[in-house]
Amino acid sequence: MVAVVFAFAVASFLRENWGADATPGAVETFLANLFLRQARQQQSDIPNPFPSTEENLQAGREFYEQQCAFCHGPDGKGQGAMGIQFYPPVPSLMEVEGEMTEAQIHFVITKGIRYTAMPSFAKVFTSDEIWKIILWTQHLSRQPLSGKPPSEQVEVFAGEREAGP
Ligand code: HEC
Repeated sequence: MVAVVFAFAVASFLRENWGADATPGAVETFLANLFLRQARQQQSDIPNPFPSTEENLQAGREFYEQQCAFCHGPDGKGQGAMGIQFYPPVPSLMEVEGEMTEAQIHFVITKGIRYTAMPSFAKVFTSDEIWKIILWTQHLSRQPLSGKPPSEQVEVFAGEREAGP
């Protein structure tokens, strides 16, 4: 039985289309989700030590717009300014709050996610700066940037941006 499953897994990997703009098969999706869930469960449950003050939110926003908006979109909905495609796709950060604890989100941003486009920011931000970015993404999900379509928001974002990828 194990051998059959193994052979099937190998075969399905061999005939995979590895393009980043295609959707992978059921086996790969199942295994990837299984490992991801296990990896996330190992994180502790510390809440964000920073309160969402005007100052902290502003700092988080600046970091976010410099380093994250390129992929996750200025509004956090996963529509990057460049329209580049990855597989796994860039997710919206709007629903993250219900799915992951704050500590898990902090861990993902610090470490990145291997074999995906999500980079590690361990050498870019301090732990405190990452907590402030999380304040900003939570703020975005409660109070969206504006009613404007993403195409117009991208212009605002490009104008405000000072540095970044
Ligand atoms: C080069 C593109 C890129 C950049 C830059 C980037 N991300 Fe990501 N991010 C991704 C991709 C792709 C994923 C999905 C990975 C996966 O499917 O497991 C992801 C996943 C995440 C997740 C997990 C969401 C979930 O539902 O599993 C969080 C949280 C996150 N990113 C936050 C950030 C923050 C905050 C920044 C900036 C400090 C950032 N990302 C910068 C591409 C990027």
